[in-house]
Amino acid sequence: MLSLGLFPVAPVSIDDIISHNNTCVNSHGDKACRLGYAIFMAEKILLASDHGGFQLKAHLLAHLTKQGFTCIDLGTDSDTSVDYPDYAQKLARIMQDDADAKGILLCGSGIGISMAANRFAHIRAALCHDVTSAKLSRQHNDANVLCLGGRLVGPTLAVEIVTTFLSTAFEGGRHAARLVKMS
Ligand code: RB5
Repeated sequence: MLSLGLFPVAPVSIDDIISHNNTCVNSHGDKACRLGYAIFMAEKILLASDHGGFQLKAHLLAHLTKQGFTCIDLGTDSDTSVDYPDYAQKLARIMQDDADAKGILLCGSGIGISMAANRFAHIRAALCHDVTSAKLSRQHNDANVLCLGGRLVGPTLAVEIVTTFLSTAFEGGRHAARLVKMS
């Protein structure tokens, strides 16, 4: 059993997977690795926060990097006061050019930064304070950005929420038709 990303997986062939720094790629250099019955996408994860989410972002960044994800930290990088819309916009603009990427945004409550992110048509940002919401945000809403309140959610729960968000697939079907109505 090989642990890739956050998930324990059984690869078709161990040779098919090359671990390169913090990035998991297959032997063709793609980000997609064929693993057993599933295709696991070693997604790029963009993280950004204001000062209220900075400490939790640092915790998540360390955790995800250790787990083998490709993480891009867009700041902020200290507790010095900054404005959350600037960070939501930075992440949203980068995600415009990378449909496979997922985002994690944090501010003190998660509220302001989720509002700012959802101003962009290609962003479906879900503010989640529990694992069930994170699961449903993927299954029903195909959320591509997870928002967390750095002052409201502890590090252990935050990791569980992030793990669920990144490992849950969109169900499509009737849910897809509803997403079209929002675009
Ligand atoms: C900053 O003090 C705080 O207002 C911000 O992090 C966020 O909670 C806003 O929604």
